[in-house]
Amino acid sequence: MPLVPMRTMLDHAAENDYGVAALNVNNMEQIQAIMMAAEETDSPVIIQASSGARKYTNDAYLRHLMLAAVELYPKIPIVMHLDHGNAPEACFSAIEQGFTSVMMDGSLTLDSKPSSYDYNVEVTLKVVEAAHAVGVSVEGEIGALGGIEDGHGAGLSEEEAQEHLTDPAQAEQFVADTGVDALAVAIGTSHGAYKFKKKPTGEVLKMSLIEEIHKRLPNTHLVMHGSSSVPQELQDIINKYGGDIRQTYGVPIEEIQRGIKHGVRKVNVDTDSRLAITGAIRKVFAETPEAFDPRKYLTPAREAMKQVCVARMTAFGQAGNAGKIKPNTCKEMVDFYKK
Ligand code: G3H
Ligand code: 13P
Ligand code: ZN
Repeated sequence: MPLVPMRTMLDHAAENDYGVAALNVNNMEQIQAIMMAAEETDSPVIIQASSGARKYTNDAYLRHLMLAAVELYPKIPIVMHLDHGNAPEACFSAIEQGFTSVMMDGSLTLDSKPSSYDYNVEVTLKVVEAAHAVGVSVEGEIGALGGIEDGHGAGLSEEEAQEHLTDPAQAEQFVADTGVDALAVAIGTSHGAYKFKKKPTGEVLKMSLIEEIHKRLPNTHLVMHGSSSVPQELQDIINKYGGDIRQTYGVPIEEIQRGIKHGVRKVNVDTDSRLAITGAIRKVFAETPEAFDPRKYLTPAREAMKQVCVARMTAFGQAGNAGKIKPNTCKEMVDFYKK
C-alpha cells in the first residue's frame, strides 16, 4: 500500500484505544529497524524525520528509503511525518517530497524562542489550509517543551519548561482556530536524554494535564513529545563501554500508557533509539577493536533499535493493528477535509 495519511491511522488508534510510536530516522538502518519491528508485531508505523534528518539525507535518500519500505512491506500502513517543521515553508517542501503528514511547530519562533499565541495560530493555519487541500495531515503544538535539539528547541531547562506547560483552555481555542488533526502538548517532558533528575512524579510530569485537555478536546488526537523512557540498561551499556551518560530519568512507560487511556495517540521516541544504537556500536568497538567492516557494528546497532521499537509498539498497543487499518491515500482525504 502507498504511504498513508496520519489522520487515518490516528483515527483508528482512537477508535481502538491504542497509541502509535512516532520514531525518528536519519538513515537506512533506522528505517530497517522500525520496519523489522513492525513486521514482527504487525504494527502500523509513523516514521518521522526532523529538519536535521532531511538535511542529513538530502531529502532524496530519505524519500527513496521510505519507498523501499513501502515496497518491501506492502501490508504495513506507513506514515511519513515531518517532525518539528519550524516554518510553513518547511512543511510545504516536505509535502512536495511526499510526506503524508507534517508538524507545524509554531510554539517556537524561527529563532527558537517561545512564540505568541497569535503567531502560532497564523503559521499553523497557513499550513492546515495548504496541507488539507492535498489530504496531508497536520500536527500543531501549544505550550513549549524543554531540552535542546539540533536546529530547533527552546533549550528550556526542566524548571523553565514548567512555565510553558499547555493551558487546557488555550489548547481548546487553538484547535478551534486552526483545525489541526493532532495536537502536541507540553506536560513537563523534554527532548533528549536529560529529562528528569529522578524518577518523575506528578509534580514534574503532569499527566493530569493530559486528562484535562482530553476532557476539553475528546476528538483531537494528542501527541506526547519527549517520550523516550531512557532505560537504565541502555545508559549502563553505553557507560560500560566507555561512554559518558550522566544518570538520568525518562518518561516511564506506565505514564505513557496512562496518557493513551486519555487521548494520547502519537508518542514521539527518538532518544531511546539513539541510546540503543550507540550502546551496541560501543560494545562492538570495545570487544573487537580489530573490526572495521561497518556491517559488524551496524547490524547489532540495527537489532538494538529494533528491540526498542518492538517494546514500544507492544507497550503502546499498536501491535496487531497493521492489518486492521483500512488503508487510504492523501488524495482520498481531500474530500474528508472539504466537509
Ligand atoms: O525532536 C527532536 C528529535 O529528537 C529530532 O532531533 O533535530 O536532532 O534530528 P534532531
Ligand atoms: P525524545 O528525545 O524523548 O526521544 O523525544 C523525541 C521527540 O519528541 C521528537 O519530536
Ligand atoms: Zn519533539
